[in-house]
Amino acid sequence: MTNFEYFNPTNYVFGKGQIEKLSSLLPENKKILLAYGGGSIFKNGIYDQVKKQLAGKSVIEFGGIEPNPRFETLMKAVAIIRENEIGFVLAVGGGSVIDGVKFISGAVNFEGDPIEILRKRILFTDSSKTIPFGTILTIPATGSEMNSGAVVTIEATQEKLTLGGKALFPQFSICDPTVIQSLPKRQLQNGVVDAFTHVMEQYLTYSHDALLQDRIAESILQTLVEIGPDVVENPTDYKLASNFMWCATMALNGLIQKGVPTDWATHMIGHELTALYEIDHARTLAIIAPNLYKAVFETKKDKLAQYGKRVWNLSGTDEEVALAAIEKTSAFLKLMGMPLTLSEAAENYENTAEIVVERFENRGWKALGERQQITIAKVKEIVEMSY
Ligand code: NZQ
Ligand code: ZN
Repeated sequence: MTNFEYFNPTNYVFGKGQIEKLSSLLPENKKILLAYGGGSIFKNGIYDQVKKQLAGKSVIEFGGIEPNPRFETLMKAVAIIRENEIGFVLAVGGGSVIDGVKFISGAVNFEGDPIEILRKRILFTDSSKTIPFGTILTIPATGSEMNSGAVVTIEATQEKLTLGGKALFPQFSICDPTVIQSLPKRQLQNGVVDAFTHVMEQYLTYSHDALLQDRIAESILQTLVEIGPDVVENPTDYKLASNFMWCATMALNGLIQKGVPTDWATHMIGHELTALYEIDHARTLAIIAPNLYKAVFETKKDKLAQYGKRVWNLSGTDEEVALAAIEKTSAFLKLMGMPLTLSEAAENYENTAEIVVERFENRGWKALGERQQITIAKVKEIVEMSY
């Protein structure tokens, strides 16, 4: 196991009815910006629950943060915060709203052009310079409620870029599993697959001696396989909903990545597909992941075999199990309603590989993956395999 520090300051407040604790979690005497997305919170009662808790506070509302939040939109919120001396932001939404608020939190006091935050992948480490924020999660998927990363799209150039740093953890996140009842099936499917792929990015690398991290990762994968198909059909079932929400958080709150190698190439390639064609984040992962596993089969073979045996109960030689494990993964993704090819999700995609390769070259991303084995040539191969 490699050395690590595990820092996670988010107060994670989980369970049915926990939105009632909101007023006690908010700071006294600070003006609050209430940030939300396209309006689902008005239809499912979450806005009303939140408003009740905000009684007596000075609040300005900022709606309209898009799925795959846009830099251009977020900068409007930055201006509002600067003009109104707002001291706290409350994000009510999914990964997009929470990520958007992380960007806003860092951008308000950023010295320089805030677009550099994305272009230079700025790490925010000084929490005296960021605006504190809390979240009310409305969709289990990204883990953004308990991590310090974010992904923001620059509309003008169709680029989807990351930011982060330890000053960008939410102060608190209220995670009430009953909020999933109003989610469209497509978003429930996306959530399961995003969480599943987060675990795979941190687990499916090469054999190492961090035994506990592997077992935790495998438990999350097994739980998602067990509940995934059912929770999308029965989101009112609290047992399913609560396990789903906790799995999604555990998949990307930093715990399982400590002391182990990680990959993340599926995500880096997937972000390009969203940036180019506005394909839902999870769907891009389903299109890329199985092909990536095939393209770098030799370096991932040992871990694929372990995954096949422990998560899918397969038997045979390591080679057989590793290959069958990829097939099992594709079948699971399909069962979860995912497209497995770009042609199912986009039109006019024929030059995607060339565009992605050019972008990676311009950014100097010459070697991704746990062993830097995913070269630009491999990226091209993976994207072409995904057509
Ligand atoms: O905008 P509203 O109207 O609220 O509707 C949203 C949106 O259309 C809707 N929705 C959310 N909660 C709902 C609901 N509809 C009904 N009932 C509810 N309770 O769902 C749609 C999708 O929301 P979004 O926030 O975009 O989904 P998700 O949580 O999947 O977030 C995706 C974004 O997070 C990024 C992705 O790249 C993408 O931009 N990610 C963030 C990560 C992180 N911060 O750690 C890691 C991930 O890998 C990912 O990259
Ligand atoms: Zn993801």
